[in-house]
Amino acid sequence: MADKEGNIDAKDFGIGIEQKHEGFFLKGCQNLDWGMKSRLARVFNPKSGHAVMLAFDHGFIMGPTSGLERIDLTINPLLDYADCIMCTRGILRTLIPPTCNKPLSLRFDAGTTILTDLNDETLMDIEDAVRVDAALLASMVAIGDPAHEGSTIRNLTRTVDLGQRYGIPTLGVTAVGKNLVRDARYLSLASRVCAENGANVVKTYFCEENFERVTNSVPVPIVIAGGKKLPEMDALTMAYRAINAGAAGVDMGRNIFQSDSPVGMLLAVRSIVHDGQTPEQAFDLYTDYKNTHKA
Ligand code: R5P
Repeated sequence: MADKEGNIDAKDFGIGIEQKHEGFFLKGCQNLDWGMKSRLARVFNPKSGHAVMLAFDHGFIMGPTSGLERIDLTINPLLDYADCIMCTRGILRTLIPPTCNKPLSLRFDAGTTILTDLNDETLMDIEDAVRVDAALLASMVAIGDPAHEGSTIRNLTRTVDLGQRYGIPTLGVTAVGKNLVRDARYLSLASRVCAENGANVVKTYFCEENFERVTNSVPVPIVIAGGKKLPEMDALTMAYRAINAGAAGVDMGRNIFQSDSPVGMLLAVRSIVHDGQTPEQAFDLYTDYKNTHKA
């Protein structure tokens, strides 16, 4: 039997050699359980410490968003170039091939659309997130929204509780209401509230001034959303400035899939996020790719 045979020659105990114990590469995550860390290490590259997440969950509030009308045609060709995909379970099950083997940031909340009043959200069942092998549970908070601040914080809290139970980290997503200013003061408050309530990663927006105050006031990794489509050079500059101000990555949608060269943009963003390239170098990469891969 294997156990008897295995014990006969057991002698390599490495006496005098201290057992290796590694820290964990993401800030604020050193005390998490193994499953949480394993999932985070699938989303964030342990070498660079950073992640390029591709977001295409916009349809859950906006319907067939420009660039996402036919996800099979526009997003699936991009999957290979992303570190992580962020979408709803509906799109995942209907259009995303399980063979893509990318960690999933699952849109865990669902709610009202642009046709009514945004941010009135509910949560899906955790069992379904487990079923689709979610690596992150994305749950939105509407800090400063008098109608929905409380309910969305309750949703985040519930998400963290459920994620803890199954070892799935929570991505707190800060939604900024129409009448709120996206400045460092607001973004650091909203992001900090997410982390205080147990979010393991926070997704927020970049701001032109003092963004380092946002990253420094939050004890967990921050990824930035791209926001509305910008000229490519501006989007690359935003990604560069965010990373250099302490962001751990981007969770970008429209600035990728609405670009005239989505693969070129993804490669360019990757070069900034993982390889420390400048916006100019990244822009050259985007341009080269676009010019050599004309439709
Ligand atoms: C919005 O519905 C989602 O949270 C998006 O995932 C998020 O805003 C990132 O996409 P974009 O870069 O287009 O802002």
